[in-house]
Amino acid sequence: MTLAKALLHPAAKPLVFVLSLLPFAWLFYAAATQNLGANPQEHLIRSTGDWTLRFLCLTLAVTPVRVVAKLPTLQRFRRMLGLFTYFYVVLHLLAYSWFDQGFDWPEIAKDIAKRPFILVGFTAFLLLTPLAATSFNKAVKTMGAKRWQALHRLVYAVALLGILHFFWMRAAKNNFAEVAVYAAILAVLLGWRVKEALKKRASRKPAGTGGDARTARSAAVR
Ligand code: HEM
Repeated sequence: MTLAKALLHPAAKPLVFVLSLLPFAWLFYAAATQNLGANPQEHLIRSTGDWTLRFLCLTLAVTPVRVVAKLPTLQRFRRMLGLFTYFYVVLHLLAYSWFDQGFDWPEIAKDIAKRPFILVGFTAFLLLTPLAATSFNKAVKTMGAKRWQALHRLVYAVALLGILHFFWMRAAKNNFAEVAVYAAILAVLLGWRVKEALKKRASRKPAGTGGDARTARSAAVR
């Protein structure tokens, strides 16, 4: 069976769903069996942060891999991966609110205002929320494709804020190795989109007027 066909198999989506739940299942199991190391609370905050960033990278990788590998069927997994990004960031926020702050909401508000790296992470969370809320077909219909697409470009801001959040946190420990790896992955994924957008714009110029509003809008890469 070719990969394109395998991606269309009825079991493919449930399989991706189960695989995406495995990090959560593992963390849950390790917490229940006290296998999270010397500082389980910190471990839970950090690993949910790591998984948020990993799912963000996976979501952003769908379109470039789909185009480069000529696998249009890959697109059907993008929404699920995006929603798992949101699932892990909600767990990350909950872990922080519980273990770092004991669900003390006034303290949480103060901490967000006081620590810039938390503020950046929280802003990324706020920007992700409307994307998760409008990830369903009905929202695309209600909003119209152009407005929906424009809103969903916020994912690029989320990626930049996510990596800034990670960088800032690790800067306090002078430990940048992992941050550099994620930054490089995101640079490739976002760079590919910029390149595609410029290519499309350039290829439209000679035939048309060279820049009417419709051309510019349709040149945008999803
Ligand atoms: C899209 C949004 C976010 C992403 C991608 C993200 C990602 C990360 C990553 C990768 C880490 C480091 C994990 C490690 O060291 O291995 C981290 C740590 C952390 N994040 Fe986030 N995060 C986000 C949002 C938030 C939010 C909303 C909060 C709280 C309001 C938050 C609070 C924290 C805290 C407290 C740490 C641990 C700091 C420490 O242990 O010193 N993050 N996050």
